[in-house]
Amino acid sequence: MMRLFFGVPVDDAAAAQLGMACAALQGQRGWRWLPASNWHVTVAFLGNLDDALLPALTALGERVAQMAGRCTLRFRGLEWWPQGKRPRLLAAVAPEAGALLPLRDRLAEGLDQLAVPFDHRPLHPHITLLRLQRGEPVDAEQLRALVLPALDVELPVSELLLYRSEASPTGRRYTPIWRRELRA
Ligand code: 2AM
Repeated sequence: MMRLFFGVPVDDAAAAQLGMACAALQGQRGWRWLPASNWHVTVAFLGNLDDALLPALTALGERVAQMAGRCTLRFRGLEWWPQGKRPRLLAAVAPEAGALLPLRDRLAEGLDQLAVPFDHRPLHPHITLLRLQRGEPVDAEQLRALVLPALDVELPVSELLLYRSEASPTGRRYTPIWRRELRA
């Protein structure tokens, strides 16, 4: 079994801008920053799947990448996202998913055909930058009161990747196992 998702990577220019915007927030207790090499935007989360499905998934990726054009996502702010009532992560958020929707819809259609269980909830494109560590006492009110830096970052979306998510001692690591450029 492998834990898999389709996503798009964060290029060096956007990563540098995000890193600069977040510099003022470094060093709080209970926060675990994701290394920039892990930053991505999830387009379709697949969960744990049998390795035998890989050829069908990459074939689907090939078809979708040939059909979907390149686009730009604009990340306009940082938000704490909850799990229940408790903040769980800090994400850079793109209010308009528009440009990613054709990609997502074509993947969803193909996943349905492959009978891969797929979460059809609306897409909220985001880049998770830090997660709150489990077991650390984090004051939710204090977090919400924190002034988050302004953000306006454009991310060129030019390729589709299939990532494998693996547990490591320092948190999950996302390794691309397939990638293809989108139609120019
Ligand atoms: P997150 O960063 O907001 O937690 C790998 O885990 C990627 O898939 C992450 O981007 C993660 O989003 C996302 N992800 C994990 N579980 C998911 C789910 N059940 N539905 C949608 N996306 C999920």
